Amino acid sequence: MKFLIHTYGCQMNVRDSEAVEALLIAAGHEKAAEENDAEVVIINSCTVRQKAEEKAVGKAGNMIAAGKIVGLMGCAVKRMGKDTFKRLPKLHFAVAPRMFGTIPKILAEKKFPCLELGDDGVVPTGMDAHPDITRNGTFAAVQSYVTVLLGCDNRCSYCIVPDVRGHEYSRPAKEVIAEVECLAKRGVKEVCLLGQSVLRYGIRNKAWDDEKGEAFPRLLRELSKIEGLERIRFTSAHPKGCTGELVDVYKTCPKVCRHLHLPVQSGSDRVLKEMGRHYTRAEYLAAIKKLRDFDPEFAITTDVIVGYPGETAQDFEETRTLMEEAGFDNAFVFKYSPRPGTRSAALEDDVTKEEKERRDQVLLADQEARGQKRNDALIGTTREVMVEGPSKRNKSRLSGRDSGNRIVVWEDDGTAKIGDIVKILISEAHPQILIGEIVK
Ligand code: 5AD
Ligand code: SF4
Repeated sequence: MKFLIHTYGCQMNVRDSEAVEALLIAAGHEKAAEENDAEVVIINSCTVRQKAEEKAVGKAGNMIAAGKIVGLMGCAVKRMGKDTFKRLPKLHFAVAPRMFGTIPKILAEKKFPCLELGDDGVVPTGMDAHPDITRNGTFAAVQSYVTVLLGCDNRCSYCIVPDVRGHEYSRPAKEVIAEVECLAKRGVKEVCLLGQSVLRYGIRNKAWDDEKGEAFPRLLRELSKIEGLERIRFTSAHPKGCTGELVDVYKTCPKVCRHLHLPVQSGSDRVLKEMGRHYTRAEYLAAIKKLRDFDPEFAITTDVIVGYPGETAQDFEETRTLMEEAGFDNAFVFKYSPRPGTRSAALEDDVTKEEKERRDQVLLADQEARGQKRNDALIGTTREVMVEGPSKRNKSRLSGRDSGNRIVVWEDDGTAKIGDIVKILISEAHPQILIGEIVK
């Protein structure tokens, strides 16, 4: 059958969709070139905020109305459980995040409606199906996501992820290394290791047969040895995992990129405590200082929530000043959205919609100015950039990223190809983009 997958949400969902694509192709199905052409449409859903869930469910409804065989997979399915079919009575199948390996069987049997919820500890099959996708050329051939830690045990008050993605499970290091070796042989130059809180790798279950040092830094060191692999990134991180050993990896392994996405969520100690984040503002700042001390250009990006229940003007001000002190290279700002069953859902959502919007705009404007200032300081420097492809806005230009994950764009002179690492002399800076010339 001809199928198409629409993906909402985070990188983990992107990776899961790729695995499903690979599994379906292996089962003899064909990827449709466009929606009109598809018989089966699968929607991979997110539920981290109410709006994200509504988008995915709405899309599934449209596809049902268009007469497709429709499957909903991912986080929203696990949250809604049996109610998924109340929301979408004509849906054909629904599959929780860790159950995506069952989709080929569901399509073979066609016993609709079908619901696969699994349990919180189940380990999905088909995790390493992605190399085939690369071979089929349906994914940028030089970069790849690799899921290393499933689920989350952090239990932040506002977050639904632990409910929908289950308990933490670290894939055995052997399995991860084999997968990355395979990707590297197929021409992948950059991997991004994924986990909701990836620095907790190897904590709940053992990742290595023997215990020598911290599991995640050790994984980074081992992956650094893989021939052909040029860059290693990972996301997302929690400040607690920012240990001396991790800092040492950054210093000693040049393949490990100097960028850390370290969600701070709030700059107010009171709010951080309520959220159950287990660090203070000062501890957060100390964690990033360790990185910027040895490399002032080390890129730090973050997530922030505005309008958490009870967030006062003073709390918000503390978030503002923390962001300035931290000097973030980029920041994603989210308006608090109560999620059913989380601890904070029991609290009154008392910051008005208008005030959340205002705080959001204030932080975005601050970040715009800060991004400009940080990028201005890079004018005249030479960045090592991996070529990713033509720039989206201007096809005569090439685009890629430096070690700090900064987007760099330059005029294509025909000398660089996708996957090459080239030197770009920066001549122009914008809040989220650097422009330069290739250095011969
Ligand atoms: N409301 C708003 N933002 C949220 N996030 C997680 N849960 C919520 C919620 N209930 C944000 C956090 C997290 C990012 C992926 O989404 O900032 O880091
Ligand atoms: Fe949510 Fe991230 Fe906290 Fe996990 S670590 S509960 S994903 S905010």
